Amino acid sequence: MAITLLSSPLQGFTDFRFRNAFHHYFGGIDTFYAPYIRLNGKLKIKQSYQNDLQLENNSTTNLIPQVMTNDADEFLFVVKYVQSLGYKELNWNLGCPYPMVTKSGMGSGLICNPTKIDEILKRAHNETDITVSMKMRMGYEHAEEILDTFPILDNYPLKSIAIHARIGKQLYKGPVDLEAFSRCLDSTKHKLYYNGDITSVEAFQKIQERFPSIDHFMIGRGLIADPFLPSMIKNNTNEYPKNRWDIFSEFHDTIYQQYDEYLSGPTPIKMKMLGFWEYFSQSFSNPQKTYKAIKKAGNQVKYKNAVSEILSKERKLS
Ligand SMILES: Cc1cc2nc3c(=O)[nH]c(=O)nc-3n(C[C@H](O)[C@H](O)[C@H](O)COP(=O)(O)O)c2cc1C
Repeated sequence: MAITLLSSPLQGFTDFRFRNAFHHYFGGIDTFYAPYIRLNGKLKIKQSYQNDLQLENNSTTNLIPQVMTNDADEFLFVVKYVQSLGYKELNWNLGCPYPMVTKSGMGSGLICNPTKIDEILKRAHNETDITVSMKMRMGYEHAEEILDTFPILDNYPLKSIAIHARIGKQLYKGPVDLEAFSRCLDSTKHKLYYNGDITSVEAFQKIQERFPSIDHFMIGRGLIADPFLPSMIKNNTNEYPKNRWDIFSEFHDTIYQQYDEYLSGPTPIKMKMLGFWEYFSQSFSNPQKTYKAIKKAGNQVKYKNAVSEILSKERKLS
C-alpha cells in the first residue's frame, strides 16, 4: 500500500524557511501543514503568518494552512484569507495542549465541546466552499472525549482527521495511547491520519503493522530530530546516504543564513538555532554533549566553529 507522509506543524520551527530547505535537501514529505494562525480576538492576520503562507515564499508543492480558534467569525475570516491566497483547504487545530490555550476553550480544550464544534463547522460549510480537515488529540482530560465529537464530525464532509494519539493533559509526555486510537478507527466514518512519536523507521513500522488500514502518517518532532527519517521510511531502509553529514551541513547553513537575515541581533539567532539543536542533537552519537557544545558557543563565530567541529567528529564516526 502506498503511504502518504505529512509534516506535522511545529510553531516556531516548521515555517516556510524550514519547509523549503527541508524539501530541497531531504524530501520524503508529501504534504506540509503550516503552523497555526491565531487571531487573539482581532480580525487581522499577523505579518509573520502572512509571510509563512504567501505562495511566493513557498517552494513546497502541497501546503495546508491551519487555524486555531473557537470562534466562528474568526474561522470564516481565516477561510477568506487563505482562499484569497489560493488555498483550498483549512486545517483546524483541536490539539494544542497548553493551559493558556485550553483554559480559553481552544486547541484540545475544545474537544469536549461538540456543540461549539458543530456551530463552527456548520457556518464554515454553509457560508464557504473551503475543504475542512481536523487535527486533534483524543481529548483534554480523557481519551473518550473525542468519541462524543465523532457523531457531529460525521455530519460534515471533512477531508480527514489527523489524530495525535495523546490527551491534552499529557502535554508531550507519557506514551501514545494506541488502544484509544484504535477505538477512534471504529467510531467514525472519516479518514483518520495517525500522528505521534514516529521517531524511527522501526517506530513507523510498528504503527503500520498495528494499524494496517492507515495510509497517512504525520511526523512532527521526529522529522526535525532526524530529517532523513521521512525519505528512509519511504524507501523502507535504515541506511543513511553516504554523504549524510554533508547534506545535513548544507541544510543547516541554509536555514542558519535565512534566520540570520530575518532575525536581528546575535541573541535571537542563537535562541532560534538552539531550539533546533534540541531536536537535531538527538540524532547525533552523543546528544547531550552535542547540545552542550552548541549552548556554550557564546557568539556567532564560536557557534559556527562548534557546528563544524560537531560535524567533523560525526563524519569520522560514520
Ligand atoms: C514546539 C511544538 C510546536 C507545535 N506546534 C503545533 C502547531 O502549530 N499546530 C499543530 O497542529 N500541532 C503543533 N504541535 C504538535 C505537533 O504537530 C505534533 O502533533 C506532536 O508533536 C505529536 O507528533 P510527533 O510525536 O510526531 O512530534 C507542536 C508541537 C511542538 C512540540
